[in-house]
Amino acid sequence: MVGPHRYVRVVTDTHAAPSHPDIGEVLVSTEEIASKITELARRVDADYAGREVLLVGVLKGAVMLMADLSRALETPVTMEFMAVSSYGSSTSSSGVVRILKDLDRSIEGRHVLVVEDIIDSGLTLSWLLKNLRSRGPASLEVLALLRKPESQAIDLDVRYVGFDIPSAFVVGYGLDYAERYRTLSFVGTLTPAAIAAGG
Ligand code: IMP
Repeated sequence: MVGPHRYVRVVTDTHAAPSHPDIGEVLVSTEEIASKITELARRVDADYAGREVLLVGVLKGAVMLMADLSRALETPVTMEFMAVSSYGSSTSSSGVVRILKDLDRSIEGRHVLVVEDIIDSGLTLSWLLKNLRSRGPASLEVLALLRKPESQAIDLDVRYVGFDIPSAFVVGYGLDYAERYRTLSFVGTLTPAAIAAGG
């Protein structure tokens, strides 16, 4: 009787939720992220049928999403990256933004889709959209994997949102705390001990 029973248990364990000692709670699992990206990609494909899309990824947090989304899309895409830094404390944004790395090419006349890891206050994105709009794209939309409730306070038109999550500081799937945890395949909160240790 051991054979088949044990075999099933081993397979189940292999697919057990990934974990990390510094993670308190997994808010979005690896599987949920993967299926959401497929779902969002199908919506983008339908909306942009017959057009080429310029994906603009916001470094560094959107790197994982850019890589997975771009490969899930059937729509032809090109990619650009921007790096911005918002002045504020390490865990909250002030809305005053500085461009650390600008786009390499003009976006005039292009169908631009900004790819964002997370919208928290929404201030960074609001500034970025105003900046990009001034460069004359044919269209400008946003795809964000995660959104926190705070962003509802400002008027932001985000066409594609993966998950609405509670107002907590999260890491994983591109998101960091002191540059750590970006490579986790899921999104979760940190334990109080990990936060106290400063990442
Ligand atoms: P916002 O301007 O408040 O919307 O913040 C935008 C940026 O802050 C995001 O693109 C992230 O880089 C960072 N950020 C906001 N919330 C979190 C979080 O919970 N974990 C990690 N980074 C975050």
